[in-house]
Amino acid sequence: MNIVLGISGGIAAYKAPDLVRRLREHGAEVQIVMTSSAEEFVTETALQAVSGRPIRSNLWDKDAEAAMSHIELARWADVVLIAPATAEVMARIVSGGAPDLLTTICLASEAPLVLAPAMNHVMWSNPATQSNRAVLEERGVHILGPGIGSQACGETGAGRMLEPNAIAAAVASLAGGKLEGAMKGRKVVITAGPTREPIDPVRYITNRSSGKMGYAIAQAAAVQGAEVVVISGPVNIAVPAGVEVQAVQTAEEMHEATLAAVADADIFIAAAAVADYRPAQVAGQKIKKNNEQMSIELVRCPDILATVAALDVAPFTVGFAAETEKVTDYARGKLEKKRLDMIVANRVGSDCGFDSDDNAATVLWNDGEKRFPTTSKTDLARDIIELVAQRFYAVRGSDTEPRLTVISNSD
Ligand code: C5P
Repeated sequence: MNIVLGISGGIAAYKAPDLVRRLREHGAEVQIVMTSSAEEFVTETALQAVSGRPIRSNLWDKDAEAAMSHIELARWADVVLIAPATAEVMARIVSGGAPDLLTTICLASEAPLVLAPAMNHVMWSNPATQSNRAVLEERGVHILGPGIGSQACGETGAGRMLEPNAIAAAVASLAGGKLEGAMKGRKVVITAGPTREPIDPVRYITNRSSGKMGYAIAQAAAVQGAEVVVISGPVNIAVPAGVEVQAVQTAEEMHEATLAAVADADIFIAAAAVADYRPAQVAGQKIKKNNEQMSIELVRCPDILATVAALDVAPFTVGFAAETEKVTDYARGKLEKKRLDMIVANRVGSDCGFDSDDNAATVLWNDGEKRFPTTSKTDLARDIIELVAQRFYAVRGSDTEPRLTVISNSD
């Protein structure tokens, strides 16, 4: 897998050496092409050391062109990635100009073009930049981010370059299995679907969850190379390739199976719609309709998510918040109360959320949030998993040892 990594002149260029390392961890060959302004922010020496290849920057460098011309370089690339991509480089690509080596390669390459924009938030929201972004997206260019948060200029807003891990993970998933995934070696446990709380041998209390979102998340994590275990309530969905499913019925069973599965997990994602209450007594025989009225006493079910988050050695914990109103306010409350690392908030109602194939969501963490507009649950799951991987490495550090110990019985 050959990646031309274009670095343009923004302060986020200081993250480029880390990005090169992450891409190489995925098994990629990385050829760096810098613009002259990028050289103000990061040194050629550092980039050459981590990429193991001479840096290209000048279109008119006779020796470098003799070794591999800019056209050969454009053909060599399986992906052209520009990170950071400044407002200026985006504008140049839109106009089709080719005044330097990087934009010449963009024009001459048939490989997918991926941009990770990074700039001051006012520059990002400027109508000129937004119209350039829209044109690029229409032309099939992949735009990653930018993230929201504090900026090098001291202001806060949308314009931060995504973290190198997230960029590498996105490029890996774009490369369709040609690169190793961002969650390789990680164990991810996911709860999915509804639970069934029996009233008597023939009746139960349940909810409208289809399990589609949880299973889509499981598939996305497996694509990123994770070992995935789904603790699943009753659903009608085919098991995704490479995913282990443990079927349960009740909240108590889901609680027990989850606690066993998370003992060596790196990440726990609670996508199940777990019953909050169950009947205090389960009748041994079918209840007869002898009275005009009847009542069922309910007792609380264990909160699986809160229990896992409170473990002494807890995995990176992600909750879901399905709400019918004040969606992000309630979700942020749950993030704090249950002491989660992240929460995925989405609106549910008669027309959205449950059992639908599409969904929109806002993902929140302690000092940031990201909104994903309505899209298929498959695409949304891929984006959520990329963000989870990015936050996992941001919080736990990219050198975190996997908690899963693979015991080899070959000897
Ligand atoms: O508090 P609330 O039920 O709205 O929180 C939703 C989140 O908590 C979801 O991630 C859901 O999977 C999880 N949950 C749980 N166990 C429960 C109730 C909810 O894991 N008993």
